[in-house]
Amino acid sequence: MSENKRDVKNSLLFECAWEVANKVGGIYTVIKTKVPVTVSEYGDRYCLIGPLSYKTAPMEVEQQEPKDPHLASTLESMRNVGVKALYGRWLIEGAPHVLLFDTGSQYSRLDEWKGDLWNLAGIPTPPNDHETNETIVFGYIVAWFLGEYVARQLGTAVVAHFHEWQAGLAIPLLRKRHVDVTTVFTTHATLLGRYLCAGSVDFYNNLQYFDVDHEAGKRGIYHRYCIERSSAHCADVFTTVSHITAYEAEHLLKRKPDGVLPNGLNVVKFQAMHEFQNLHATAKSKINEFVRGHFYGHYDFDLDNTLYFFTAGRYEYRNKGVDMFIEALARLNYRLKRSNSKTTVVAFIIMPAATHSYTIEALKGQAVVKQLRDTVSEIQNRLGTRLFEHAIRSNGDHATLPAPEKFLSEEDKVLLKRRIFALKRNALPPITTHNMADDANDPILNQIRRVQLFNSEADRVKIVFHPDFLNSSNPILGLDYEEFVRGCHLGVFPSYYEPWGYTPAECTVMGIPSITTNLSGFGCFMQDLIERPQDEGCYIVDRRSQSVEDTVNQLTDNMFTFSNKTRRQRINQRNRVERLSPLLDWKNLGIEYSKARQLALRRAYPDSFYGVSGLEGEDEEFDFGMERMMPNSVPASPRFRMSGIATPGDIGTLTEEALGTSDYRGQAWGLTEEDEEEGYPFPLV
Ligand code: UDP
Ligand code: G6P
Ligand code: GLC
Repeated sequence: MSENKRDVKNSLLFECAWEVANKVGGIYTVIKTKVPVTVSEYGDRYCLIGPLSYKTAPMEVEQQEPKDPHLASTLESMRNVGVKALYGRWLIEGAPHVLLFDTGSQYSRLDEWKGDLWNLAGIPTPPNDHETNETIVFGYIVAWFLGEYVARQLGTAVVAHFHEWQAGLAIPLLRKRHVDVTTVFTTHATLLGRYLCAGSVDFYNNLQYFDVDHEAGKRGIYHRYCIERSSAHCADVFTTVSHITAYEAEHLLKRKPDGVLPNGLNVVKFQAMHEFQNLHATAKSKINEFVRGHFYGHYDFDLDNTLYFFTAGRYEYRNKGVDMFIEALARLNYRLKRSNSKTTVVAFIIMPAATHSYTIEALKGQAVVKQLRDTVSEIQNRLGTRLFEHAIRSNGDHATLPAPEKFLSEEDKVLLKRRIFALKRNALPPITTHNMADDANDPILNQIRRVQLFNSEADRVKIVFHPDFLNSSNPILGLDYEEFVRGCHLGVFPSYYEPWGYTPAECTVMGIPSITTNLSGFGCFMQDLIERPQDEGCYIVDRRSQSVEDTVNQLTDNMFTFSNKTRRQRINQRNRVERLSPLLDWKNLGIEYSKARQLALRRAYPDSFYGVSGLEGEDEEFDFGMERMMPNSVPASPRFRMSGIATPGDIGTLTEEALGTSDYRGQAWGLTEEDEEEGYPFPLV
C-alpha cells in the first residue's frame, strides 16, 4: 500500500461484472436494479466495468468523455497501445458511469497472459475454452486499468467490487501486484456446486466431503475452479448472496464468506393497490389472445376459468427443478380430472434452448385467429351499416326490426364459414412454439412425453414450452417478461440448486404468488423473515428434509389448492404477496453492500479507522453512508427471528469477523460433528 494516506470517507467505487450492460441471467438483474441506491450513495464516484459487446452496447450506453482527469489519462494511455474501450453513461435508471472493455482488442496477448497466470498463480489453462479465454483477457485488462488508475490518482481510496468468477480474475492479479485498491468479491454460485447438482449427486448431504480438486478435474473445469477459488481467497472481503451458498462456498471454495449480501429489486410502489391488479388484468388478456391462437381447433375451455402457471430461467433442467415441475403438473392434472374440476391450467415453461425459429404451426395458430378476428370485425361493420340503414329508413308508423336471418348476407356467411373451417385441426395443439434443434433428446420434452401431457381435450393441465426468453417484439407471445409475469397467476420454481433465484422474488414485487423451495436462497430468506409465508402467497416447498416423492406431492398439493381458489381469494392473495415487496427493496438491502465496502476499507486501511495508536477505543464510527429504512408496509406475519430490532437489512450478516459455520441462517446448515451425533438433518448416504 502507498505511503500516502488515501481518503477513505469519499472512496471511489468500481463495480465489475461480466453482465454489466450485457444480459445473461440473474447477475444482470442484481447490477441493474442496484444502480439507483449505489448512485445515491456514490454519485459520480461510481463506475461500472464490463465487457464491450458491440451488439448491445450501442443501444445501452451513451458515449461520453471522462471528467476525471486521471481516468481520462489512464484510458488514453491504454488506447495508445491498442485497448479498445467505451466510456459513458449506461442508459438505465440512475444513469451510472460505465466503462466497457473490448476483450477482442487484446486477444493477441492471450498466450503471454496465460503464461503469466501460470507463473504467478499456478493456474493452468487449456487452449480451447472460450469462456476462460474471455475471463483471462478481461481480468488482465481490468487489473491493468485499476493499476494505472491508482498510480495516477493518489488521494482517494478505491474499492473494486467484483461479481462471479468471470469477472474475478483481476483480484489475484491486483493482490500479487500490490495494487493499492481494496477488493470485494461476491459469488452468485460456485462453479462446482452448479456442475455437481446438474448431475445426479446427493449434493447437500455430501457438501463437506467432496474432494474438490478431483471433482473439478473430472468435470474438466479445474482451471475455472482455480480462478474462482483464487478470487475468493485474494479478495479483502468475500461475500455471497445467501446463507445456503455461504455454506456451500465454505466447503467448495474453502473460504468462509465474510457475510451475505441478499439480492434486492428496485421496487416501484403504486399509489393505489388496484393499479397493479389492473395491470394483471390487462396483461392476462394478452396471454388469453396467445392461448386462443395456440389452442385453435381445440379451444374448448373457458378462459374465464383458466389459470396461467409458469416457470422461467436459464435452461438448467435439474437445477431449476423443471423435472419436478412437470411431474407435479401430471399429478395436478390427475387430481383436477378426478375432482371434476372446471378449471383449466395452462403451464408455461420459458427457457431458452437451441432452436430453428418458430414452428409453422405456432405462427399459423396466431394467423388464423387474427384472420377470424379481422373477418368478424369486417362483418360487424357491414352489419352495423345495414342495421343503421334499415333503422333510419323506418318511420314511426312502419317501424320494423330486420329479421335476424337477414343480419348476415350470404357473402358474410360464406366468409365466416371459411374462417371457421380454417380452425379445423387434426393434431393436438403443440407443446413447443419453436422447432427444437434436438427435439428427440431434449430433457424437458422427454419428461413431458414420459408423463404424457399432450394438450389433449380431456386434460385439465395444458403445457406450452417457449424455448426462448420473451420479448414484446416476438410474433407470438409478444410480451416482455415483466408483462407476462403480471398476466400469470402463479410462478413455480422448484429449484434444487439456486443460490438466490430472482424469478420468485420478481413475482413477489409484482404481486404474483409463487412457489419456490427451501434450497433456494430466496426461499430461505423469506422463511427467515416471515412466520407463515404460504399465507402471504409465497409458498416454499421442502426439498431439504423430505424425499423427492414427498416434495412432489407437496408441490402438487400447493398447486391443487391454488387452482381451487376463487377469484376473490386470488385477488386477495395478490394483494398480500405484493405487501412483502419492501423486504426485497434495495432501499433496505443495499446497506449490506455498504457494509461490505466499509469492511474492505477497514481491512486495507486500518490506520484510517483505528487512529494513530491503533487502540480500539479510538475506532471511528462504522459509517454506512446511507440511512436504514423501515419497510413501508409490514407483512402480516413478520418473524424477525433475529435478536433485537430487525429490518430486512439485518438478514445480512456482515461483521468484522468471518461468518462462523454455526451462523448460517435457516435450518441446521453445516452442523459440527457433535451436533451430528444428536441428529443429522438428512439421512447420510
Ligand atoms: N428473465 C428474463 N426473461 C425471461 C425469463 C427470465 O429476463 O423470459 C430474467 C428474470 O427476470 C431474472 C433472470 O432472468 O431476473 C433469471 O435470474 P435468476 O436469478 O432467477 O436465475 P439465474 O439465471 O441467474 O440462475
Ligand atoms: C384484477 C382486476 C380484476 C379482475 C381480476 C382477475 O384483480 O382488477 O378486475 O377481475 O384481476 O383475476 P384473475 O385471478 O381471475 O385473473
Ligand atoms: C446466479 C444464481 C441465481 C441468482 C443470481 C443472482 O446466476 O444462479 O440463483 O439469483 O446469480 O445472484
